[in-house]
Amino acid sequence: MGKVVVIDHPLIQHKLTLIRDKNTGSKDFREIVKEMSMLIGYEITRDLPLQEVEIETPLCVTKSKSIAGKKLGLVPILRAGLGMVDGILQLIPAAKVGHVGLYRDPETLEPVEYYCKLPTDVEERDLIVLDPMLATGGSAIAAIGFLKDKGVTNIKLACIIASPEGIKAFHDAHDDVDIYVASVDEKLNDHAYIVPGLGDAGDRLFGTK
Ligand code: PRP
Ligand code: URA
Repeated sequence: MGKVVVIDHPLIQHKLTLIRDKNTGSKDFREIVKEMSMLIGYEITRDLPLQEVEIETPLCVTKSKSIAGKKLGLVPILRAGLGMVDGILQLIPAAKVGHVGLYRDPETLEPVEYYCKLPTDVEERDLIVLDPMLATGGSAIAAIGFLKDKGVTNIKLACIIASPEGIKAFHDAHDDVDIYVASVDEKLNDHAYIVPGLGDAGDRLFGTK
């Protein structure tokens, strides 16, 4: 069963309070989402495998650790997932970035795909899918379904806020994918918004409201 890792580091929790606040404008919202993503990226990469390599310091030859294993890829779910890319790329600059475009139909609440561009070797990479909000779970379920259809086998999901309903639906669909999140909030409201949440993450990132 996939696990849910709630990252309760004080810096993340403090920054979460700032982005929940409706008076935080887009510029600050974007910067804080980027900072939080870097901190989430730090946790999500904690179990990366290491190998010993031989190097030469200015003083002697020695063995030291270097990241081993498969190459990494980031897949933001457009639009709001874009806000999480730069923070994680600062930690793993060699990661390739694929994009999956989905919007949630406001009537049916079902995800609709409108864009998909992935690295050509995507099936050889370990992927981190990025989306700040896991509400009903529909978008993340669909995006990860596409990636599995392309042959990807090792995926983690990085979010900022998740609902209990979204986590359950997500793990019912993808029980092999771990979720890393800053907060599991109380519930979804009648419009499938997360409560207390932070509102519409895409609109707040890009100032489109
Ligand atoms: C938001 C959010 C997630 C999705 C979550 O995107 O960024 O992708 O809703 O809801 P779900 O778990 O119920 O699918 P939205 O569809 O508003 O598109 P946007 O990122 O372009 O704003
Ligand atoms: N998408 C968002 O951006 N916010 C929510 O609360 C739910 C879906």
